[in-house]
Amino acid sequence: MPTVLDGTAIAAAIKQEVAAQVQALAPKGIRPGLAAVLVGHVAASEIYVRSKVEACEELGIYSDLITPPDTVTTEEMLALVAQLNARDDIDGILIQLPLPAQVDAKRLLDAVAPEKDVDGFHPINAGRLQAGRPALAPCTPAGVIEILKRSGIAISGQRAVVVGRSDIVGKPAAMLLLNQNATVTICHSKTHDLAAVTREADILVAAIGRPGFITPEMVKPGATIIDVGINRINTHEEFDRFFKGNAKREVAFAKRGSVIVGDVHPAAFELSSAYTPVPGGVGKLTIAMLMANTVRAAQMRRGL
Ligand SMILES: NC(=O)c1ccc[n+]([C@@H]2O[C@H](COP(=O)([O-])OP(=O)(O)OC[C@H]3O[C@@H](n4cnc5c(N)ncnc54)[C@H](OP(=O)(O)O)[C@@H]3O)[C@@H](O)[C@H]2O)c1
Repeated sequence: MPTVLDGTAIAAAIKQEVAAQVQALAPKGIRPGLAAVLVGHVAASEIYVRSKVEACEELGIYSDLITPPDTVTTEEMLALVAQLNARDDIDGILIQLPLPAQVDAKRLLDAVAPEKDVDGFHPINAGRLQAGRPALAPCTPAGVIEILKRSGIAISGQRAVVVGRSDIVGKPAAMLLLNQNATVTICHSKTHDLAAVTREADILVAAIGRPGFITPEMVKPGATIIDVGINRINTHEEFDRFFKGNAKREVAFAKRGSVIVGDVHPAAFELSSAYTPVPGGVGKLTIAMLMANTVRAAQMRRGL
């Protein structure tokens, strides 16, 4: 039976450590602070940002929720970011994506001071990560590494295959694995004979955004599978493809009319030695790593 890598438990352990770090900074007169910028009223974004603000409260991190209207301009957003860059009580700046179409998201993310870029999206931080220098790494890929390390899964010398090359997940995940001495291959939509490549993986990271895309014939028996995907499915046909006969999921589907599935077909997990479930795996780490990055930013900015 494969080991289920429990993202909820690992995230709780990280949060506990972050809370202890926050407490240790208090006697020095330092309280890490996070500015969360939420533009307009995108329902999913509101839920994510609320969870992030709640996590700050739970761990003793100061948070400032800023909510510009969805008519905001790029210039107004740039002025806001400049203010946040200058504020001494703010160590991390989080701009919740997606932004309205009229806002130039790239220009905005590039305007965030790299030392306050707790999402790790700034090209300076991407470059530092690539150069193996201290950097604020993107939260979801950083969470992937934490899951592997804290579960005692060897990374050094292992063949790691990352499917997906986004700036937010795939590329930084590959770079972090390389920095941990894995032998890394990055695959994408133009990769020829993808299954032949993924079957080489001791550690297979799926960050594709397609429900159940990784099937059993793409997996080497005994591999560790890290499923980053979060996809909502709401048709009976899709449900049956992934979860037919799964009583727990059937109850959830009947209640909500939809369920979440990762980028890995549940049948593929059965071949693995260990895997992250969806939900309850990588997704749980993202906010914990955002909190960790905020405290790290507070320390690094003060040379601690
Ligand atoms: N908190 C979290 O846990 C968290 C955070 C972020 C994202 N996610 C989830 O992770 C998944 C990936 O997110 P993302 O932002 O990286 O997505 P993305 O920007 O859409 O990137 C998807 C990647 O998958 C590749 N791809 C698409 N179809 C493929 C195919 N048929 N064969 C091989 N590769 C293919 C694409 O290749 P090309 O580059 O060639 O187009 C691209 O590099 C999504 O399910 C997302 O919801 C979860």
